[in-house]
Amino acid sequence: AHTDHADFMSKEIGEQPEVAARILDELTPGIADGSLWRALELPPFDRIAIVGCGTSLNAGRVIGTAFSRHGHVPHSAIVASEASSTIVEPRTLVLAISQSGETADVLRAIDQVDLGLSSLVAITNNPHSTLARRADSVIDSHAGPEVGVAATKTFVAQIVTGVCFALSALVATDRVDRYHARWLADDLALIPDLLAQSLAVSLESVPPLVARLHAATGYLFLGRGAGVVYAAEGALKLKELSYRWAEHYPAGELKHGPLALVEPGTPVIVIDNDDPRLEGNIAEVRARGGEVLRIGSIGSDIPALGRGIAEPRRGGIEAWGPLESVVPLQVFARQLALELGRDVDKPRNLAKSVTVD
Ligand code: M6R
Repeated sequence: AHTDHADFMSKEIGEQPEVAARILDELTPGIADGSLWRALELPPFDRIAIVGCGTSLNAGRVIGTAFSRHGHVPHSAIVASEASSTIVEPRTLVLAISQSGETADVLRAIDQVDLGLSSLVAITNNPHSTLARRADSVIDSHAGPEVGVAATKTFVAQIVTGVCFALSALVATDRVDRYHARWLADDLALIPDLLAQSLAVSLESVPPLVARLHAATGYLFLGRGAGVVYAAEGALKLKELSYRWAEHYPAGELKHGPLALVEPGTPVIVIDNDDPRLEGNIAEVRARGGEVLRIGSIGSDIPALGRGIAEPRRGGIEAWGPLESVVPLQVFARQLALELGRDVDKPRNLAKSVTVD
């Protein structure tokens, strides 16, 4: 039940630090010796293909980036509903990622893709699901039940779980040495605290900003590098919950079209992960009267990112990016939805598990 919370979404947002801590306690010991990966008994691989939908696909993109940034393993992300035209080369590790394990688009995708000499691994919150039964190996994302239609704690759980397995795989296949892996694991260990700090900051700083901006009809989300996927997740959450238009872009794309959308008062939410090139993008938005909201470290509008709050050493930041930025994005979307009188646990037109084509 959610007796202490106004809704399941708020409960599930609040659970994220402990979900991450629980997963890390269980999985980190198997990173530096590669044992987590070896236990799956999978054949060698040369590349990664991620398959999923919506929030799970966003989580998959982060996991794929961990393989590429740290192990130089090329990865591609496949939108499950578009998988029919995809060619998977031999020795590809296909990672199908689905909270429910019952999403029709994902199940159809794995039927359509010719796996040939490749192997299929499922990352799912339901190890008894149809997807889990069809995969060569199953990784349980261990988020616990999620009731809200909007994926929140399952997103964090998928990323933390997937990155642990990715790093273990890179050790097991001699792409990363165990000292570097241990260093990265120490970085992963910061995640629960970063999420908890981010939650505290978000609950305080987001509501007044939403009160000021709730009349807008469209919202832009910008990021660079490892921040782009979080901009995508923020825009998805906002659309799903508030029924307002939201778009995300790599900030460098602004001048190639979307800048035309910005007019006085347009809210532009920036995942400010310290990329110096963001300053120019922010200046472009401000020059047109856009309302920039920076999600960054101390001094930002939403000072929810760990740098400056936690230990500064974060080698993993390149791979899993500013994971804690998802918390203010979730809180923002929920708060806006509440201001607009929406049902945050059951948005219109949507189902928790999309079992139809
Ligand atoms: O169960 P799945 O992870 O396969 O579901 C995929 C998407 O339908 C899901 O993530 C959807 O995008 C969320 N409702 C977004 O919050």
